[in-house]
Amino acid sequence: MLPKNSMKIAVVGSGYVGLVAAACLAELGHELICVDNDREKLFALKRGEVPIHEEFLPELLAKHRGKRLVFSDSIENAVRASDAVFIAVGTPPAEDGYADLSYVECVAREIGNAIHEYKVVIEKSTVPVNTSDCIRRTLILNGVPTSSFDVVSNPEFLREGTAVSDFLYPDRIVVGADTARAATLLRKIYEPLTSGRYYKEEDAIPGPDGAQIPPPLIMTSTRSAELIKHASNAFLAMKISFINAVATICEHVGADVAQVCGGIGADSRIGSRFLSPGIGYGGSCFPKDLAAFRAVAHDCGYEFRLLDEVIRINEDQRARFLRKIRTALWTLKGKKLAVLGLAFKGGTDDIRESPAVSIVNCLLKEGCEVVAYDPAAAARAAEVLPQKVTFAESAYDAAATADALLILTDWEEFTALDLDRLHAKLKYPIIIDGRNLFDPDVMSEHGFLYFSVGRPDAVPKRDIARARKAG
Ligand code: UDX
Repeated sequence: MLPKNSMKIAVVGSGYVGLVAAACLAELGHELICVDNDREKLFALKRGEVPIHEEFLPELLAKHRGKRLVFSDSIENAVRASDAVFIAVGTPPAEDGYADLSYVECVAREIGNAIHEYKVVIEKSTVPVNTSDCIRRTLILNGVPTSSFDVVSNPEFLREGTAVSDFLYPDRIVVGADTARAATLLRKIYEPLTSGRYYKEEDAIPGPDGAQIPPPLIMTSTRSAELIKHASNAFLAMKISFINAVATICEHVGADVAQVCGGIGADSRIGSRFLSPGIGYGGSCFPKDLAAFRAVAHDCGYEFRLLDEVIRINEDQRARFLRKIRTALWTLKGKKLAVLGLAFKGGTDDIRESPAVSIVNCLLKEGCEVVAYDPAAAARAAEVLPQKVTFAESAYDAAATADALLILTDWEEFTALDLDRLHAKLKYPIIIDGRNLFDPDVMSEHGFLYFSVGRPDAVPKRDIARARKAG
């Protein structure tokens, strides 16, 4: 039986955002039709396959598929059967950093052709400010009376790997609605979360420590909501580039960026999250959204130079890491390197804009031999990396007889590696860590020459030759 206040909702686009949103909205008790024009993908979803590596998604799909969550290739049928229609199609980067909104326009046209009575059309895809106006215009041009629809902006703040939990336990829900009617409908959709009702259910997906229950609902204008999304991602990327710049100074003056982070993060106005230095940010969102936000600013007649610098520091971080490898290994040609991690961050199989993949490509160009291991992203990486890259079944296999080991992704499982076993496997006990996963003192105790980002290098406490003989 459907819970009270259950609504009929269509989600157009069954990619990463659309699929997670549809599964989570079904979990909240609504009736979902998830639409995609990729028939193969739809068949796979109907068969029970889960196309992305995302915690709790298999459970939610298994629970609701064929019941509260169905898949379809017809936007028309889905729109007619629903009170609200989410647009969750891709907005890939076009030339000059502008977001390519052609998929959004296409879907808006099809929605327009299907609307016969009042619907709320909700943009969930990350779009530049004013896109809601363009969707509105498209609907009107396709003959929909203004009284028959509202366009709402409801940006997502889902991180890959924790998207389900981010959806169900958000820091905030942002709804940009310009009419009371649309605002009421969106409030109803999120009521199971904002009333706290969902969290009392026995089989609710468990939330992270410190989750804000119930989450606040922030109501804004559509334009403000659109800006909140771009500004949030730009600010987070700025935090990362800021700490990476500070890490560079730490290396020059012999300070420890971890201690500096502890000190600045303790200021509640700054906070300690998103202050992990490393090889820079990647993924399908930050690089694209920063470029798009910069382009939006340019169109407004404002050159957002701060964003130029955030992007420049991020790119420079990869080059700096390569210089670090060169310094550590003297020459690169012919060196056998074990690479741990290819995904753009831990907990996902996504390699889009992955700094790890870009670094591996540079190393191959310099004549290195690369043996890589990633717990989830190896298959995807194999599609884009040259064939000469070898893939290992474990971190230890990758390390076997390697001249050095590089850590390029912050996978949790790497932090639990048996350091003595790793030491015994490597030809030389050199680790260059682009994610600062280990304590330099511990690495030193275990006999490693250990280089990380923004922290003093660690040298082996014990005699390498003797330790290796004994090991
Ligand atoms: C991001 C936003 O966090 C999310 O709100 C938005 O909806 C989509 O974009 P995601 O791309 O999944 O999510 O990854 P996130 O966890 O934000 O990390 C982005 C990149 O920054 C990764 O490459 C990560 O390794 C890097 N990062 C993150 C750092 O280098 N240091 C940090 O302190 C945090």
